[in-house]
Amino acid sequence: MPKSKESKKSDKVKKPKKAETTPKAKKPEQKEYPRIEVVPTPDLVVDMSQEAILKRQSEFDPKMVHFIDHALIEHKITQARKVKTGTKEFRELTKEIAMLECYEATRYLPLKEKVIETPLCETVARQLGGKKLAIVPILRAGLGLQDGMLTMIPAAKVGHIGLYRDEKTAQPVEYFCKLPHDCAKREVFVTDPMLATGGSASDAVFQLKEYGCKHIHFICMVAAPEGVRVMRKLHPDVDLYIGALDCGLNEDFYIVPGLGDAGDRIFGTK
Ligand code: PRP
Ligand code: URA
Repeated sequence: MPKSKESKKSDKVKKPKKAETTPKAKKPEQKEYPRIEVVPTPDLVVDMSQEAILKRQSEFDPKMVHFIDHALIEHKITQARKVKTGTKEFRELTKEIAMLECYEATRYLPLKEKVIETPLCETVARQLGGKKLAIVPILRAGLGLQDGMLTMIPAAKVGHIGLYRDEKTAQPVEYFCKLPHDCAKREVFVTDPMLATGGSASDAVFQLKEYGCKHIHFICMVAAPEGVRVMRKLHPDVDLYIGALDCGLNEDFYIVPGLGDAGDRIFGTK
């Protein structure tokens, strides 16, 4: 019996559909932010005398570059510098230093008057009244400062910017960015223990500015003068809170005397 049109159609061997391939995960696009070339400090002399530190600090505008002058911070950074300090202690010190630096960095946040009632009477008192706050650690090592910051300002939202330094070029490579949706309206505190060439900090700030953030502060434990210069040139509107200003950068762009690789010391990865 001749086959009907219908059955002829169904006899046709259907070509299998091409297997749908999962699109490959894209590497985040590497943006070309302005960079300032930094070279290792020529004839690096390690001088951490009080006199030498003050001389290095005097290069920078004290209105925007805050070298935190506090015995506890200095003591704790010294403990963190020691090669024998293990991961657990290093992590604890980082958290404590973050709390103390946060205290300084938030000193002048705007306050507003409010009528409150104490157990004794009604009174006018001041409480935080400016923009809401956000903390943005630069991954990985900036995470070490996150808990200390949150202990002091628990209502802050948290964003993360992932950057690592290319081992050969010391240039930052972006791999992650997730910010609070209203980050642009917030007062933002970027955290990273180290400000070496300034590449990572300045790229992170460029990313935040691209997102619309206007009120940005940068908090670190140890800085090299080179990194501070870079931040001042590229982001003169960002104030810096620095625990210690060291002597300079070695040929691998590590801060000297510094404290080594902060990420490895916080996470115990080396
Ligand atoms: C370290 C540090 C800063 C950066 C500082 O991170 O935590 O982010 O280097 O150097 P720079 O001023 O020359 O850019 P690293 O790239 O080692 O990544 P990690 O935090 O994942 O260890
Ligand atoms: N990153 C670190 O962790 N340490 C340095 O000294 C410089 C960059």
